[in-house]
Amino acid sequence: MKTVFITGGAGFIGSALIRLLIAETNWRIVNIDKLTYAGNLESLADAGSNPRHIFSHTDICDRAAMDALFAAHQPCGIIHLAAESHVDRSIHGPGDFIQTNITGTYTLLEAARAYWSGLAEPERRAFRFHHVSTDEVFGSLGATGLFTETTAYDPRSPYSSSKASSDHLVRAWQHTYGLPTLITNCSNNYGPYQFPEKLVPLMILNALAGKPLPIYGKGDNIRDWLYVDDHTRALQLVFEHGQPGDTYCIGGRNEMTNMQVVDTLCSLLDRLHPGSNGQAYATLKTFVADRPGHDRRYAIDANKIAADLGWKPQETFESGIEKTVAWYLGNTEWITHVQSGEYRNWIDRNYAKRQS
Ligand code: NAD
Ligand code: TYD
Repeated sequence: MKTVFITGGAGFIGSALIRLLIAETNWRIVNIDKLTYAGNLESLADAGSNPRHIFSHTDICDRAAMDALFAAHQPCGIIHLAAESHVDRSIHGPGDFIQTNITGTYTLLEAARAYWSGLAEPERRAFRFHHVSTDEVFGSLGATGLFTETTAYDPRSPYSSSKASSDHLVRAWQHTYGLPTLITNCSNNYGPYQFPEKLVPLMILNALAGKPLPIYGKGDNIRDWLYVDDHTRALQLVFEHGQPGDTYCIGGRNEMTNMQVVDTLCSLLDRLHPGSNGQAYATLKTFVADRPGHDRRYAIDANKIAADLGWKPQETFESGIEKTVAWYLGNTEWITHVQSGEYRNWIDRNYAKRQS
């Protein structure tokens, strides 16, 4: 049975990845997470209590703790998702982004390199350091064109520049030390268990509460949306079959303006959960001041991962977004705990005995 480290496994994408890997593989997963405001062990649902899931409440910037985890668990690889992930937070306070995304990735690379250097040859060759990154490192597109694996880096926000820095570090560790690395750059994800600071869950929960739906600028910025489970299936494929040293772009070819996304959410809510006063949810749309340095358009060309690894998304935007709205309507306990802060007590109630 192989052991794989997942960092950031209590976050939105990391928890979806752990749910997938526990269901689809026999791997032992060591979930390394600091549990910032974005970390929520309640998102692991049943997978979290599987004996093949081991939770470690650890900051990736803590080198001694990372060394001890490598020594104790002897993983065959690591999928690194731990990060500060929200652009608006990075604008208001970049410090944590520099610390976790850059220093944390550096610390992890060094701990992984020290462990990997001591492995016997077959294990050294099989080891993988998979760094999970974003399309935002490529900057902002005009009306045409797509990001590919060869697009020059041009990050614009504190978040995207911290992720770009970490991508550069990962490539440097591959070129300089031969560490077998993989990088994936994915477009905007949406789906169940996403923290309600990001566009999709924020709009759903505000609408349900009858609060304004804040649309930055004119609502005409474009994002390329991907259902989270399509992303995690791509991550598993790249981790298992990707070419060491390579980069893979992941995206759903679902370009939408923010206004189109909000309108879709409003009409789904009108159908699935009509407001008690008969008012259409779209009447809550409110234009607010634009995000400083707001990137205009992101769009991914995912031909390489399709051609090399046979990946393609299973969800259309229509099917994925309906599933997402239905999930938020059906999971009021998770939402209530997030909104009240109760989710932060989950570790004391459920995991204390199982920490390593
Ligand atoms: P998230 O904010 O939901 O989760 C991040 C997780 O990392 C949390 O559980 C948090 O507790 C943990 N974490 C933060 N700092 C840590 C530290 N110092 N040590 C250990 N754990 C720490 O993020 P997400 O949306 O799940 O994104 C996961 C990864 O995917 C990130 O690297 C992000 O850059 C990347 N990504 C996200 C998207 C997206 O649309 N959400 C798209 C492409 C790439
Ligand atoms: P977000 O979910 O923060 O992801 P990212 O900034 O990483 O793309 O935002 C998605 C888009 O939605 C982005 O163009 C900003 C916009 N947006 C709003 O218009 N209103 C909001 O309240 C939020 C959170 C985002």
